[in-house]
Amino acid sequence: MSKINEKLTLPNGIELKNRIVKSAMSEALADENNNPTQAQIDLFQQWSEGGAALLITGNTPVDRMHLEHAGNFVLDPKSDLKQVSALVAAGQSGGAKMLAQLAHAGRQTPEAINPHPTSISEVRLALPGYGQPFPATESELSEVIAKFVQSARRAEEAGFDGVQIHAAHGYLLSSSLSPRINTREDRWGGSLENRARLVLEVVRAVRNAVDPGFILAVKLNSSDFQKGGFTHTDSVQVAVMLEAEGVDFIEISGGNFEEPTAYQHTSKSASSQAREAYFLDYAAAIKDALDIPLMVTGGFRSASVMSDAIQNGKIDLIGMGRPFIADPKFAAKLLSGVISMAPAIERDFPPADSLPRGAVLNWFCSQLALLGKQGRPDLSMSIEEGHENYLDQIRFATERLNKARRPD
Ligand SMILES: Cc1cc2nc3c(=O)[nH]c(=O)nc-3n(C[C@H](O)[C@H](O)[C@H](O)COP(=O)(O)O)c2cc1C
Repeated sequence: MSKINEKLTLPNGIELKNRIVKSAMSEALADENNNPTQAQIDLFQQWSEGGAALLITGNTPVDRMHLEHAGNFVLDPKSDLKQVSALVAAGQSGGAKMLAQLAHAGRQTPEAINPHPTSISEVRLALPGYGQPFPATESELSEVIAKFVQSARRAEEAGFDGVQIHAAHGYLLSSSLSPRINTREDRWGGSLENRARLVLEVVRAVRNAVDPGFILAVKLNSSDFQKGGFTHTDSVQVAVMLEAEGVDFIEISGGNFEEPTAYQHTSKSASSQAREAYFLDYAAAIKDALDIPLMVTGGFRSASVMSDAIQNGKIDLIGMGRPFIADPKFAAKLLSGVISMAPAIERDFPPADSLPRGAVLNWFCSQLALLGKQGRPDLSMSIEEGHENYLDQIRFATERLNKARRPD
């Protein structure tokens, strides 16, 4: 029997029915008031029926001025809790647990949403479309921590089984960990202990504010893969610090907007474990240092590679993203042995450097929107068309958001 079918009990006593997790994917389907729409609810209904043990929402901002996308749904006092609860119920309907991925986009907030976002420093993202950030003051950092707590409480109120604190991919908490971005000379910058202070304080405050049975997870980079950035050695140490704060599991990913390592699409010949699950080798050192469960996301496709990784004690949970867009119900087929591989459509795509920046990711984003709105993706759509459609969706959602913010 494949290891992916085994149950897992988290440190707080909550049981997951198997080892497959849908990692966070920004649905970008919220309305102009950043509340979940029916399309988003339908999406989670499909995923829940699809057999995975745990579903993690995409980026769910704790602060309306620091969205990653105008279509993010937000958890704060203004949220329509009826819609949020309907989303949670849909996600749980098939027996999956639901986590909200709480995030603050920091300097990766698009300029059209906030031209001067709060960040850990004044170091600007080296990409077009992102404004000059302001370094957060002491009191602004306290507000950020309070907002994570407020959102976690809202998530608990709405019926979520827990939250995942997003400390990966270059958003505020991740940028704070990076000496390349975090140039502060106060108690929030410099040594690793200082750079980790923000995420640790967020985790501590959330743990103290929610029920002990509420799952608290963190998504962390194995490395930023940037010169002078957050390294693998740093990552192992931060994972140990997070464990001491009562985190129930850690998910490992990597990279950021400037260095998008999280979304690799490898060639068809990628068959070896190391080449398929590209963060697995990095995870090994982290796993050795921890007692709590470890989840790794990025590239997993073959049931045998997943089962071996669990069997060999390298990880406990398998995170996947893109296969849930190609077939929202593939997990049940993989678990029952009807298929031996999750859909790996990205392997048919040309190398990323032969395409416009972000085109493959944008194609997946537009497919995700179709899956929510019409119940199925259109896998025959060309990369260029998916890319362009998604850019249009961003423009539409941003204009709508800005209009709703400034009613005439
Ligand atoms: C369309 C799309 C949106 C994503 N949005 C998020 C997100 O909101 N938060 C996050 O932590 N990761 C996000 N990711 C990254 C995934 O969680 C995952 O780390 C990545 O897709 C690699 O896993 P995979 O190879 O199984 O797809 C996104 C990925 C895709 C494809």
